[in-house]
Amino acid sequence: MSQTVDLIRTLKLQSRVFHDFGSPFYGGLMAHIAADVEADGAAVPLFAPWAGADMRRLVADAVPLRIMGALHARVLTGEDRALAAVFPEPGRPADPDAAWPAVREAFVRGREAIVEFMAHEPQTNEVRRSACLLPGFLTVAQATGLPLRCFELGASAGLNQNWDRFSYRLGEAVWGDPASPVFIDTDWQGGRPPLPEVTVLSRAACDRRPVDLNDDAERLRLIAYLWPDQFERLDRARAAIALAQARGTTVETADAAAWTARVAAPARGAATVVYHSVFWQYVPPEGQAALRAAIEGHGASATADAPFAWLSMEPDPADFARLQLRLTMWPGGEERVLADVHAHGQWVKWRG
Ligand SMILES: C[S@@+](CC[C@H](N)C(=O)[O-])C[C@H]1O[C@@H](n2cnc3c(N)ncnc32)[C@H](O)[C@@H]1O
Repeated sequence: MSQTVDLIRTLKLQSRVFHDFGSPFYGGLMAHIAADVEADGAAVPLFAPWAGADMRRLVADAVPLRIMGALHARVLTGEDRALAAVFPEPGRPADPDAAWPAVREAFVRGREAIVEFMAHEPQTNEVRRSACLLPGFLTVAQATGLPLRCFELGASAGLNQNWDRFSYRLGEAVWGDPASPVFIDTDWQGGRPPLPEVTVLSRAACDRRPVDLNDDAERLRLIAYLWPDQFERLDRARAAIALAQARGTTVETADAAAWTARVAAPARGAATVVYHSVFWQYVPPEGQAALRAAIEGHGASATADAPFAWLSMEPDPADFARLQLRLTMWPGGEERVLADVHAHGQWVKWRG
């Protein structure tokens, strides 16, 4: 019984997160699912693989995201038309209360497919985080006056490797290719960031379990994990996927520590930047130590004509709920907090 209590608490917590992060449809639907589990309803069998799991494991496994992703996938594949009819669409208001009876029926009708979807570890790639990383890249380019060699860790599908090929509006400032199919605006607070032109000499990325954009099922899963009432976010992700496919963007299957040590040593005539977003927390402590050693080792070998930078968009170690953009540049090696940032890139508070 206490295990079900943990599941219900986790679902209710996620309902608030959906509301806070701008998905009222999912927020309302998740509240219905929590109530359904409380009443021993149709959703309960879908959580069978987590029977006995405490809240910590339910959150770590992102179980609430899995069930929503599974529903969204049923809509995207066209396999459940009754469900699609109550899901949000541009121009059609999303009403979670009106949708709930159809969702409950979808749990019964699509049980096998939903359980199958939920067995996979969620994999997301948030394109708007490029708006948070961008001022870090600009700071490195401005400070060094050199082209950049970019290495992304935990890149998922690798969409943010194309950060310099997007078009940005950072409050009043604009940067990037105005003709880009990927447009990102963010609520920029604070002074202007440096806005130099940047040349990216090379780009590479790793992930221990990359999303293969050329695999239809994996691409669909990536989209399914987006929230269906966030139309702009969906459009942006689709445009970034198309751009990545057109550019042949790839992600190597590798552990970040070994990969960084192997490929990201500083090189003369360019600024080498190792960067990551919302990745560090997924690396166990011994992996974090190995990665830090690899990065600091490269930093120690950096010179004025072969500088090295570590750029990260990660939770503040002192307060996990706050995300920060941090930059360390070598020679020197002093860490700076450049900005406080929203987890999905909705705002940037620039400290620059
Ligand atoms: C929450 S996702 C973030 C993806 C992307 N950076 C973004 O901001 O959209 C975290 C990613 O880190 C990857 N990851 C976790 N541990 C890793 C490791 N030791 N080496 C490489 N990738 C890892 C996961 O597979 C996952 O794709």
